[in-house]
Amino acid sequence: MDPNASGLLRRLTEAGQSHLIRFWDKLSPDERASLNQELQGIDFQEINVFFKRAMETSGSSSKNEKMDARMEPVAQDVLGSVTRDRGSVKRWEEKGLECISQGKVAVLLLAGGQGTRLGVSYPKGMYDVGLPSRKTLFQIQGERILKLQRLSEEKHKKKCNIPWYIMTSGRTMESTKDYFSRLNYFGLDKSSVIFFQQGMLPAMDYDGKIILESTCKVSMAPDGNGGLYRALGNQGILDDMQRRGVEYIHVYCVDNILVKVADPAFMGFCVEKGADCGAKVVEKSNPTEAVGVVCKADGHYQVVEYSEITLATAEKRSADGRLMFSAANVCNHFFNFAFLKDVVEKYEPKLQHHVAQKKIPFVDQQGQLVSPDKPNGIKMEKFVFDIFQFAKTFVVYEVLREDEFSPLKNADRQDGKDTPTTARHALMSLHHRWVLNAGGHFTDENGTRVPAIPRAGAADPVTDDGIRNLKDGTDLPIKCEISPLVSYGGEGLEPLVKGRDFHPTLIIDESGVHELVKNGV
Ligand code: UTP
Repeated sequence: MDPNASGLLRRLTEAGQSHLIRFWDKLSPDERASLNQELQGIDFQEINVFFKRAMETSGSSSKNEKMDARMEPVAQDVLGSVTRDRGSVKRWEEKGLECISQGKVAVLLLAGGQGTRLGVSYPKGMYDVGLPSRKTLFQIQGERILKLQRLSEEKHKKKCNIPWYIMTSGRTMESTKDYFSRLNYFGLDKSSVIFFQQGMLPAMDYDGKIILESTCKVSMAPDGNGGLYRALGNQGILDDMQRRGVEYIHVYCVDNILVKVADPAFMGFCVEKGADCGAKVVEKSNPTEAVGVVCKADGHYQVVEYSEITLATAEKRSADGRLMFSAANVCNHFFNFAFLKDVVEKYEPKLQHHVAQKKIPFVDQQGQLVSPDKPNGIKMEKFVFDIFQFAKTFVVYEVLREDEFSPLKNADRQDGKDTPTTARHALMSLHHRWVLNAGGHFTDENGTRVPAIPRAGAADPVTDDGIRNLKDGTDLPIKCEISPLVSYGGEGLEPLVKGRDFHPTLIIDESGVHELVKNGV
């Protein structure tokens, strides 16, 4: 194999990337074959254009002030809220369930990330946050889909299927598929679980040179969750959706333990509004919370990152006292099929990559691996929300954070944010409230009822799982877990819990109601 004869050297030289084969003479035949195969699959001219465009738009210093002047809050007529529009939620939910029963709804999971902050070597969806059931994020989500199918079937007396599209990356595809197969697709119909793979892009140094992570391997990373759109086209997923008659798609991130997959109320709200695209949001907790907000700029909806606005804008309040830019993006989106198709075919190529400066391990001139201690290059990513600007009818649906949003981002540490502990507590606290709202109660070891709102600092009956306080200072939640197969969103619990006293740990699953005593059942 000769890079000269195969035309590889010419392509590399023309693109200014010939350093990628500088160790060629030292490589074994197998290493040469593998490097050759990898390099043949890269369109260097395209990568160079991506790099140039991404670098041109990143890091302009006057960007913040300019963005502030262009921002407008979400208009009331496109906003729905589970709290302020209580009277309509039931109607939206019914609309959503009807669409589900007609086979028009699909869910699409973004699971191609590398989960570097969590720091595990397997896909994040396979993470077990330590619930009594030891269920993983994938299993919780799969069971919620199954339950929703059952609820819709019960109501509409018609068998239905919610196709589940799962985007993985080169690094996570095989282990994800293998896990689903081992867990028998959590009871879902195997043919309705469809895996596809997003693209990868090389990491580059600041001069636009592609980085080698070994003498025979390019440093590659997934192209961001916005890589979704390109993958939908080139992996035949849009065609699959069309074949199945999918009209509405719920797109969400793998890491939110509370995610209401294919939430009928959200879907119904978006459908009723005739939306092309919608975003579920939660209220931003305070002006300096590091979240992107959904707002209008230059007449189009978009997500503005916290780093793009000044504190003065972040602190602005409306007449009702709420933050003016309060719609925190939680990566939970609605698409209608026609718009998604337009995005894939017309709009995606117009999107530029965002630049993330990273510490990227590289090989030096001698072929030795170096792990830098400060950023030495960039990774290029598109974001799933970059296409909001193209929607003709964009809507926003506000839900309660404590009911619907608790992402798993970081490994556990004392007082950590978005960790396995906070995710586990958020789920158990939600389920605790479901039991109370359905008329159940909890008692401590002495048989005394635990108050629904525990006194701050009060001794908690369950203190055996490590970290004492949540980040916001509340006590540990009562240990309580309800299988998604029993309840999707708190419904159907009264016959099981009303008027009963439970001693934690309480588990409610398809086999019944169980109280686990410490160190045994
Ligand atoms: P994050 O931006 O939180 O990234 O992804 P991550 O990979 O999970 O974690 P870090 O940043 O490496 O620690 C938000 C969502 O987008 C998906 C992730 O799987 C997660 O559901 N994602 C991210 C992709 O699907 N592809 C990507 O290229 C990046």
